[in-house]
Amino acid sequence: MESLSIGVIGAGLIGGTLAVHLAGLGHRVRIANSKDPSTLTQFAGVERLTPSWAADAAAGADVVIVSVPENRVAALCAQLAPKLTDDAVVIDTGNYYPNRDGRIDELDNGTPDSVWVAGLLGRPVYKAFNSIIASSLKHNGTHDRAGRIGLAVAGPAGPGKDTVFGLVDQLGFEPVDAGPLADSWRQQPGTPSYCQDFDADRLRAALAATTSDGIAEYHRRRDRITDFAAAAADVAARM
Ligand SMILES: NC(=O)c1ccc[n+]([C@@H]2O[C@H](COP(=O)([O-])OP(=O)(O)OC[C@H]3O[C@@H](n4cnc5c(N)ncnc54)[C@H](OP(=O)(O)O)[C@@H]3O)[C@@H](O)[C@H]2O)c1
Repeated sequence: MESLSIGVIGAGLIGGTLAVHLAGLGHRVRIANSKDPSTLTQFAGVERLTPSWAADAAAGADVVIVSVPENRVAALCAQLAPKLTDDAVVIDTGNYYPNRDGRIDELDNGTPDSVWVAGLLGRPVYKAFNSIIASSLKHNGTHDRAGRIGLAVAGPAGPGKDTVFGLVDQLGFEPVDAGPLADSWRQQPGTPSYCQDFDADRLRAALAATTSDGIAEYHRRRDRITDFAAAAADVAARM
């Protein structure tokens, strides 16, 4: 895969992990949080990784990864949308947790999380890296393809999806086509495959077994998490 310019918006557990790994793979990465780039001291010395303002990270990038809590997405998308090139491949890692994010009516009414993000940006979006715990994303990628962890990728077929598949593969995971973005509710929190580190075959089977009559139960499982600080601390301890 050629070297891509990649903007990572969100410098937390997922965005930070992706940015460091992608820079290590030879891509040119800009990373942003919600503040001045000088606050991103944790990335000092990482080759090909440049702290940036969010809008600058998105401007002209081949790939833009949005990795922020859902309650920050609407304002962020308004800022990013004018900066994206027509060809930019946008990846959304986000998950809606009402106990963390507060209520977002459109998501409560059944719109899949990333369909909502695509609408806010007014362009196609790929949902990927949302269904793996950050510590597993950091440590468990491998180039031994036998039995490696599968990662669901939902979004429109075409060159954009090929690019996302290529990045997933480069990061050491097996890309699994989870269909169009409208089907991405199958990889949301609480579903059978969510953060299970299944291999590709088991992931395909779990996605297929994720049915619309289970949605109320998936949401109940999602809503059992209430202490997000403790959950984040637990993941961070495994990083
Ligand atoms: N943690 C996991 O294992 C995991 C796994 C899969 C998916 N996810 C999902 O991926 C998303 C990110 O999760 P995370 O755990 O990486 O979150 P996190 O550790 O809390 O980090 C969130 C990052 O987003 C940044 N941010 C917030 N608003 C922003 C804005 N307007 N512009 C630019 N940056 C902004 C924050 O910067 P500031 O510090 O400046 O606010 C922070 O760097 C969430 O939707 C989460 O549900 C998480």
